[in-house]
Amino acid sequence: MLEALTRRRAPHNRIAGVDLVGILAHLAHALRREVGVLIDRHGSVAHVVVSRRWQQLAEMGTAPGGGSLHYVEAHPRPDGRPDEGDRRAIRLLDLDLVATVGTHRGDPTDLWLLEIAPGGPGGDSVDLVVEGPFAVDELAHQELGALVRQAEAARRRAGPVQTQGTGPERAVLVAMAGADGKGGVGDSLEELASLARTAGAEPVARVTQRRQRPDPGRYIGRGKVEEVLRAVEEHAADVVLVDEELTAVQQRTLEGELGVKVLDRTAVVLDIFARRAQTREGRLQVELAQMSYLLPRLSGRGQWLSRLGGGIGTRGPGETKLEVDRRRIRQRIADLQREIDGIQRHRRRQRQPRHEAALPQVAIVGYTNAGKSTLLNRLTGAGAFVEDRLFATLDPMLRRLQLPNKRSVVLADTVGFIQRLPTELVAAFRATLEEVVAADLLLHVVDVSRADWPEQARVVEEVLDSIGAGDLPVLAALNKSDRLVPAARAALAREHPDAVVVSAATGEGLDRLLDAMGRRLPEPWLRVRLRIPYSEGRLIAQLHSEGRVIDRRYTRTGILVDAELPGPLAVRLRHRFGAAGAPRQPRAREATGGGGEARPPFPRR
Ligand code: GTP
Repeated sequence: MLEALTRRRAPHNRIAGVDLVGILAHLAHALRREVGVLIDRHGSVAHVVVSRRWQQLAEMGTAPGGGSLHYVEAHPRPDGRPDEGDRRAIRLLDLDLVATVGTHRGDPTDLWLLEIAPGGPGGDSVDLVVEGPFAVDELAHQELGALVRQAEAARRRAGPVQTQGTGPERAVLVAMAGADGKGGVGDSLEELASLARTAGAEPVARVTQRRQRPDPGRYIGRGKVEEVLRAVEEHAADVVLVDEELTAVQQRTLEGELGVKVLDRTAVVLDIFARRAQTREGRLQVELAQMSYLLPRLSGRGQWLSRLGGGIGTRGPGETKLEVDRRRIRQRIADLQREIDGIQRHRRRQRQPRHEAALPQVAIVGYTNAGKSTLLNRLTGAGAFVEDRLFATLDPMLRRLQLPNKRSVVLADTVGFIQRLPTELVAAFRATLEEVVAADLLLHVVDVSRADWPEQARVVEEVLDSIGAGDLPVLAALNKSDRLVPAARAALAREHPDAVVVSAATGEGLDRLLDAMGRRLPEPWLRVRLRIPYSEGRLIAQLHSEGRVIDRRYTRTGILVDAELPGPLAVRLRHRFGAAGAPRQPRAREATGGGGEARPPFPRR
């Protein structure tokens, strides 16, 4: 029957024949899908469209556009009113008109028209106007020509409807309850929605499935695919986002069955990273992660994606690389890795002087959106990039800050953590994680205005553990306390005496936070010059293990040592063995000298 549709014609100067609409209604009912036909100005059926795959039609260039087609569609439900999907069809394919009918037991119900009319005060934009309901027999009387002329007039003034913007990509979110072993998807799905918004898409529907383990072929069950398809059709979605990592096979199968782009959580996060990375290293890391992600998913996908130019998952370096073969991708991965290693070596060399100058490092960590950048800004006036979106920070920000006890520290902002961080991504922000591991103190920012903050804090602790930073001293900043009532604030402070309740937004509690940082930081190291008698020679081993020996000379009266030591040890030894004269300035080292800048004075007492 679908094939036979292509041989039908619309009567002269009519939108469609009543019999054609009857067949569409019958098919929509039988297939439980939207079924429609694109009709050209001669009345011939140019395309039969099932499940609203206009996106593909538009991208394959099959629809001539420019207003030479109109579209007649039967919805598989009684309500025939044009929906967002129909509006999208007009814009995507630049149609003259869309006519829709609902169906009841295979018969058409009411008829509706979605027309193009001049809009805006001076007719300088295009409006989509809904008219109806009409009885289906009205088709015999509605003149197509008048409606086409109206659309053409509007277009002449305002340009093609297409360019009036099709809005953000529309995403259907899919999650599996039980996949996390607890049967809940709420927070994870909420987070996927935030991720989607950050990537520039609008979540329009959510579908969840309760299942013990994912289907190996298509992740969700066969029946669930139907439900997702309905959601895609009803909401005219462009993309389906799955809240887990998909295998290449699952992704391809779902794309085939749903007819839209299907992306998993990792791809969405990678897309965000591609937009956010600012430093050269950040960008290389993202490209590396994208390449590693793509490699196993490459076969048979390039063609599909290339038709879907634009949108989530296609930005960043990935899009131009999709067509290259695996061998070249492997080569690129190797090159990227080499380049990143080079940058990291360079950074490590650069970092050394900071340690030598004994400026302790404080790394700000926390769940994404906890307020890390806002806090850093408040504390230092640093102007780091603050935005109410996830992962506003991808590259480390370093700022110097003086504490009330006059000690200076280096503050590093880091990327936010999320649940179930995909493995590719751990490598992608190794740049910031290195700052974390090298820190002397972690400032853990927690958004206590969220009910699930203990859970988020736990995720952060797990990530810290997994990168080898689990043993570092931590100070918790319980942030966004301005959103709590005073009693809740007081209770929080009582229950967590080691933490500081703050609001980065109002500045509340920041003085206490700075004080606590000063107290919580390990003792500073001091530079000392000692003359150790040969009888105390065993001390040298202790200096090596607990501090850093910079220079050592054997003299007649003892061993002359120039060393950097933890404060208490330095004070004790200086008292017993302090040698006259200031410690010698270290020999200039080309690798760390930073172009001969003046070195900061070493802290004495
Ligand atoms: P990522 O870069 O995604 O990891 O985020 P972040 O942790 O750096 O968060 P950011 O500083 O960008 O803040 C996220 C949102 O929370 C922004 O809209 C801030 O304005 C808001 N925010 C931060 N601190 C506070 C606070 O103390 N109170 C309130 N009410 N809002 C805050």
